[in-house]
Amino acid sequence: MKALILSGGKGTRLRPLTYTGAKQLVPVANKPILWYGIEGIVAAGVTDIGIIISPETGEEVKTKTGNGELFGAKITYILQEQPAGLAHAVKVAQPFLGDSPFIMYLGDNLIQSDLNLFLERFKSQQTDALILLRQVSNPSAFGVAEVDGNGRVLHLVEKPKVPPSNLALVGIYFFAKTIHDAIASIQPSARGELEITDAIQCLIDRQKKVEACQLEGWWLDTGKKDDLLEANRIILDTTCLTKSIEGEVDTQSQVIGRVQIGQGTKLVNCTVRGPAIIGRDCYLEDCFIGPYSSIGNNVTLIDVEVDHSVILQSAKVVGIHQRIVDSVIGQRAQLTVTPQRPKALRFMIGDDSQIELT
Ligand code: G1P
Repeated sequence: MKALILSGGKGTRLRPLTYTGAKQLVPVANKPILWYGIEGIVAAGVTDIGIIISPETGEEVKTKTGNGELFGAKITYILQEQPAGLAHAVKVAQPFLGDSPFIMYLGDNLIQSDLNLFLERFKSQQTDALILLRQVSNPSAFGVAEVDGNGRVLHLVEKPKVPPSNLALVGIYFFAKTIHDAIASIQPSARGELEITDAIQCLIDRQKKVEACQLEGWWLDTGKKDDLLEANRIILDTTCLTKSIEGEVDTQSQVIGRVQIGQGTKLVNCTVRGPAIIGRDCYLEDCFIGPYSSIGNNVTLIDVEVDHSVILQSAKVVGIHQRIVDSVIGQRAQLTVTPQRPKALRFMIGDDSQIELT
């Protein structure tokens, strides 16, 4: 059994963060989204992992993630020159996959369930494809499945205007080698991509065995800001379970509840209310950090209140007296107010940035 994780794509819905980096490397609770997928796959006993990368962000993914040692796995990087679709990515990965069955995992998906259960079912039933389905309120944004009363998959369609059901395809699939023939026979869709949804439909048309499991627990497709914040909230709730302070907290500061503070970080006259995570080598003075906040490494925060937000590494925020809520602040971004009552606002804001003064 092998695994193929897709970590290419342009991440248009997470701009401007994704102008400078891969969307799969955006951190959730201070860990790249992609790594949760790798860990889930390794926990299911699959350690031979291929990662599809793009020319734009591939080097960053490689440098950060490494050869797999970090995860007890062997990682092979596979370059997809063009974002020509999920099925195209499988085609490009064929030399790596060979005839092996494999898990295909979209690198921006996060699920609560263990993969083991599905993997066991896939292996024991000798199916050509096992897909995971989940009821959603906006099926038009996903691949959608029509299933009969016995849960058999009748029909799949990618991002339909009029969805045949509210069952979305989760971005985690289990395939036998027969998927390669199916991919070889499909044509690009209207958006010009080789869709994995069409390849699975082709298996169904050829009377191959395609099974579906309904996914229990949460599923997050972290492609947009609010999904990212929601992922951050859920992951902090489930993984930040104890108080762990490796940095320095002065006597004026209060650290309440489930809070993790990394090495080299210094807190002066701050209140932190968990669940929250603060990375390494940060400096925080006169701040309130509220629940569901993740502060990356090397961040400086002075005289600010932050709540339910993600601040990426090396950002600096000084003197903002309104509470910063539901926000994502990118790497090295600087937000500073020096006088008490500023007379002017001076900006240097990247393309596609969003600033709301509410
Ligand atoms: C892709 C798939 C879609 C699936 C979704 C899950 O869409 O094409 O069928 O439902 O992932 O995350 P994308 O997110 O690439 O638009």
